[in-house]
Amino acid sequence: MTPRTPTTTSAGAAGTSGMDGIAGGAEVAAATSAPGLALDRHVSAADRAVALARDVLTGLTANPRELPPKWFYDATGGMLFDEITKLPEYYPTRRERAILDSHASDIATACPADTLIELGSGTSEKTRLLLDALRAAGGLRRFVPFDVDESTLTQAGRSLIAAYPDLAVHAVVGDFERHLSHLPGGGRRLIAFLGGTIGNMQPAQRGGFLRALREQCGSTDALLLGTDLVKDPDRLVAAYDDGAGVTAAFNRNVLTVINRELGADFDIRGFAHVARWNAADSWIEMRLRAVRDQRVTIDSLALTVEFQRGEDLLTEISAKFTRDGITAELADAGWAVTQQWTDPEGDFAVTLATPSTAPAAAPV
Ligand code: SAH
Ligand code: AVI
Repeated sequence: MTPRTPTTTSAGAAGTSGMDGIAGGAEVAAATSAPGLALDRHVSAADRAVALARDVLTGLTANPRELPPKWFYDATGGMLFDEITKLPEYYPTRRERAILDSHASDIATACPADTLIELGSGTSEKTRLLLDALRAAGGLRRFVPFDVDESTLTQAGRSLIAAYPDLAVHAVVGDFERHLSHLPGGGRRLIAFLGGTIGNMQPAQRGGFLRALREQCGSTDALLLGTDLVKDPDRLVAAYDDGAGVTAAFNRNVLTVINRELGADFDIRGFAHVARWNAADSWIEMRLRAVRDQRVTIDSLALTVEFQRGEDLLTEISAKFTRDGITAELADAGWAVTQQWTDPEGDFAVTLATPSTAPAAAPV
């Protein structure tokens, strides 16, 4: 996605949805029904199409094959993720919410920000605990949800405007791996990156991301980072292979996105959902495994890809951390941990960090 000049517009008034022309009508309707919501769009429909085409071409011609996880998230993917967060097996959302329930006021005291920015914001449900605490601390005036999925972002923005009428909600459609330089500036900013989404990046990617974010921050800004922690592999695998099959549907949704947006003919039922714990790399891997030999044609790329029965396509990693590991990774990227909280079970961590004065270590 090439950085572009943003269009700042009322989402109800004009503009092209990040999925206009390539998505279904229901998604477009959801993305255009938020009067009064300030919206910066750094990902146009054309950018999205180019980026998806590039990632699919690179990923499906690689050996082994893989796709970046951001392509799960169209309107359907966003809804499926929301369902995942309510599953009995998927503990991270509940654990992170418990931490915010107990410590949002400590966070607001440590960083009484006037702007809360949330990267990969999704529905921003848990974030309301932070909004409430920052408002109680006195200075909050602006919330900036930032997400690549415009439909979920706009729906969240609409309900936040209704719930917090005195708060300026300034939504940003962008890719947090490319558009951090477009984060609104000014004042004291708390940047939340919740849910464990940083674990969906490869280690080198997340180091680059944390360094890039550090470069955007002034001395009074702070980062609030949610990370899932290493635990019993059986619990981890169950969280990514639920009994109701919601995670399987979420995983397969990436094929639906490619079919719709690139004119591909993936047989969705021809791929099985696989979740496995990779202990050496300390991450869960989600894969789609071909249940039979098959040939897939992707019209927009003029590409035909053969899958052998049993062949895997890696669709997501979800890294699990230790508390010391988080502190060390942050320090390498120029961040000093000021406080870190876990839930009583020790399943999940929320870490508050500020820009350190020492220079970040050079990438290895
Ligand atoms: N933070 C929320 C949502 C997590 S789901 C929570 O804790 O529940 C991950 C979110 O990150 C999705 O809304 C998805 O659209 C967004 N996302 C994934 N990759 C992204 C990227 N590269 N840039 C911006 N947003 C991204
Ligand atoms: C968004 N992210 C932190 C989720 C995770 O747990 O890695 C995505 C997800 N994938 C399958 N279930 C949930």
